Amino acid sequence: MHTPDAVDELILTEAATVDGSPTGSRATGTPATGATSGADAPVLCLDAPALAVALAGQGRTVLHRADLLADELDVAAGATDAGAAVAPRVVESWDDPGLADVRLVLLRLPANLNALDELVEAVAAHCHPEVRIVAGARVKHMTRGMNEVLAAHFAEVRASLGVRKCRVLHAAAPLPAARTAAAAWPRSAALPEADLTVVTYGATFAGNRLDPGTRLLLDRVDGLRPAAGADRAVDLGCGSGILAAALARHGWRVTGVDTSRAAVAATAATAAANGLTVAVRRADALADWPAADLDLVVCNPPFHVGTAKDSTPAFRMIRTAARALRPGGDLWCVYNAHLPYLPTLRRDVGPTEIVARDRSYLVTHSVRAR
Ligand SMILES: C[S@@+](CC[C@H](N)C(=O)[O-])C[C@H]1O[C@@H](n2cnc3c(N)ncnc32)[C@H](O)[C@@H]1O
Repeated sequence: MHTPDAVDELILTEAATVDGSPTGSRATGTPATGATSGADAPVLCLDAPALAVALAGQGRTVLHRADLLADELDVAAGATDAGAAVAPRVVESWDDPGLADVRLVLLRLPANLNALDELVEAVAAHCHPEVRIVAGARVKHMTRGMNEVLAAHFAEVRASLGVRKCRVLHAAAPLPAARTAAAAWPRSAALPEADLTVVTYGATFAGNRLDPGTRLLLDRVDGLRPAAGADRAVDLGCGSGILAAALARHGWRVTGVDTSRAAVAATAATAAANGLTVAVRRADALADWPAADLDLVVCNPPFHVGTAKDSTPAFRMIRTAARALRPGGDLWCVYNAHLPYLPTLRRDVGPTEIVARDRSYLVTHSVRAR
């Protein structure tokens, strides 16, 4: 569960200076400033679950959206615990008519500038013309590029003073072109190395490039063919859906699974752009997948969570894949050669061999023990 941190507290403090509404929060311990013109309007929280919970708990109308499933689930659970009279509502589409009333957007700045660009573009195009963005991060994670992305869509961009190693960027006055131009996201590009057209959203892993690890794994799994009655495959952590599309091309019945909203949307769009059928599922690894169901899992797991190196999701992907595979089913993984996944693959999945390696990555093939 997320609790407000120093970045959230600075965002709330700075928001109170432009919103005039009760964003002086429980989180900061400062009293609410009382209802004013902005207080009844909905607040949109983007990739900011702790803020969505704090504001809903104060009685604000909250719309929210996050790339990661866990962040959205945290808002639903946290708002109930905080006694919110009205549950925060997820914005599933940028065409949501509720966005037209949004004059205040609170945003945790993503490190990925494309992710930021998609969010800011959507806010400029779909929120109220007087909308303001208050976007924060730790100073060490901020770049000049973030100001430039905001300035591509908003006429007024300024930075706050740094407080406790955090800073906020303010943006206001959407540029006229931002309200009329066609959306730049999703983006589509030919990927000749994979013989595919790839479609990506801002936060999709690797954009529309072929990641070197993906390439090494693709070289091995592109030749796999389903057998009669053994054609159920998952691309676990599907990103833009390159591996899923390659399998679907050869007759596998594939599902792309990813926790990221941008990934599942991109995988569906990549499949459609190539005339292929791939189901998608936004989920935490294969935790909810039926046991002993799959014939094949391919996986290029993450080794970061946000800006921090973290192998927890990779171990979870391996362990849940082991459960979802039928005895004799195959798990193909690619990962950075220094990472310690081999013992887990051997213990939790079954016999595992290294089938390819380059200077950075290795590809493993495991067979689910009977
Ligand atoms: C290294 S990227 C690989 C993307 C794609 N398969 C490729 O090779 O280009 C890892 C992917 O795993 C996803 N991911 C991270 N944690 C996850 C989890 N707990 N459950 C499902 N997907 C997850 C990320 O969102 C990301 O899309």
